[in-house]
Amino acid sequence: MAKILAFSGSARKASYNQAVAAAAAKLAEEKGADVTLVNLADYPMPIFNEDEEAATGMPAKARAFKELLMSHDAFIIVSPEYNSSYPALLKNAIDWASRMEDGEKPLQAFKGKNALIMASSAGALGGMRVLVVLRMLLGNIGINVLPGQKAIGKVDSLIEDGVLTDEKTLKQIGSLVDGLIDFTDKLHG
Ligand code: FNR
Repeated sequence: MAKILAFSGSARKASYNQAVAAAAAKLAEEKGADVTLVNLADYPMPIFNEDEEAATGMPAKARAFKELLMSHDAFIIVSPEYNSSYPALLKNAIDWASRMEDGEKPLQAFKGKNALIMASSAGALGGMRVLVVLRMLLGNIGINVLPGQKAIGKVDSLIEDGVLTDEKTLKQIGSLVDGLIDFTDKLHG
């Protein structure tokens, strides 16, 4: 059974992207996957600095997030687009998790894992430009990023009381989630 970790690139309380991640996680669970939904707001970590890393090592929250990544086969990542790229919050969490500690292989949290990427925004394009750079980043650290992806535009009109309720969008996300589960089950048994 696929072990999937779902999270967004936003720590905002009313985050649209976290709502999309939650909807995708629910769909994956309904399809039989073993899903963990987390919020990066619960993993506050300092902006990465090699001097501080040398002095004090990896902060506990950064290690906890890395361990979550390591203990899952696949990721659902839903990112806001900030100035056509990913938020520093998401990149910083990935940078910390990319650091090798004793007994680990290089990029152990990422290599050979699979990911479904999505974006959402109240704008018409849904933050589609972030998907280009996020795909490149994740691919460069060894993640198999599924070809199917989705940028959800005008997402504010699809969410009610913090929950993504739009049937058409849920159906589209459901078929992407199916693809992630099938691919992961084939690769990881
Ligand atoms: C944005 N936003 C934005 N939206 C977009 O579609 N394309 C963009 O390039 C940007 N750039 C951008 C930069 C910065 C610094 C901020 C703070 C915001 C708007 C963004 O999509 C909006 O704030 C979302 O609601 C953020 O996602 P969450 O927090 O709702 O998940």
